[in-house]
Amino acid sequence: MSDESGGQAPGATAPAPDPAAPGAPRAFATPVRSEAYKASGAAASAKQTEGVPPTAPGAPAATAQASGRTAAQPGPAPAPVTRRGFLSTLGVAWTSFAAACAAGAVATNRFMFPNVLFEPPQTFKAGFPSEFLTGMVDTRFKESYGVFIVREETGEIYALKAVCTHLGCTPNWLEAENKIKCPCHGSGFYRTGINYEGPAPRPLERYRIVLADDGQILIDKTRSFAYEKGEWSTPESLLRTA
Ligand code: FES
Repeated sequence: MSDESGGQAPGATAPAPDPAAPGAPRAFATPVRSEAYKASGAAASAKQTEGVPPTAPGAPAATAQASGRTAAQPGPAPAPVTRRGFLSTLGVAWTSFAAACAAGAVATNRFMFPNVLFEPPQTFKAGFPSEFLTGMVDTRFKESYGVFIVREETGEIYALKAVCTHLGCTPNWLEAENKIKCPCHGSGFYRTGINYEGPAPRPLERYRIVLADDGQILIDKTRSFAYEKGEWSTPESLLRTA
C-alpha cells in the first residue's frame, strides 16, 4: 500500500534530488576532481621512482639522491679531443724528442774530443841566481810548479821536486825547524832532500837545472834525478854558481 502523504518507508533509499528541479540543492563537483587529482599524483610518483632499486626498510636515504643524481646515472662524459688540443700535444712531444736528440748529439760530439788538461809548463825560468839567498829554500814556485829551489852556502843551486816519496803528498818547508815536512804521515826531509823521519822510503827527487841563454835559471821538469840511483852526481842535477 502506498503512502500518499509522500512519506518514505523505513529502509528505503531516498531518491537523489533532481538538480534541474527548481528548489533542489546545488551539487558540487569538487569531490570528483579531488579523486582524479589523487589518481594522477600516484601515477606520477610511480613513474618517478621507476628504475630506482628499492631500498631496504629502515635503510638511510641514498646519498646519490642527496647529490642530485641517482646511482644509476653515469658520470660526466669525457671532453672530446679537439683538433687544436691534438696538435698542441703533438707539438710538445716533438719538441721533447728534438731536445733529447740535440742533447745526445752534443754528448756524442763532446766524446769525440779529449779533455784538455791544463798543466803548468814543464820547463820554466825561475830568475837569475843572484835572486836566491844563500842557505835558503825558496818556495815561490811550489804552488805554481811544485818545486823547491835551494841555494846552498857553497853556491850550488838545485830544484827539489815537491812530491813526497811516500804517497805523493805535497810537503811544506818549515823555516823554523829547518826541514821539509810532509803533512800527510809526518815524513821529514833535510833541505837537501834527504829523508830522515817518517815513512818516506827515499829522498826527494831533483829536477834538471841549467842556465838559460839569458843567464836565468831554467828548470826542466821533464827530467828528474834520484839520489838512490846515484843520479845526484849528474852535472845537470845541480847548478854551480860559485
Ligand atoms: S805522503 Fe808524505 S808521509 Fe805519507
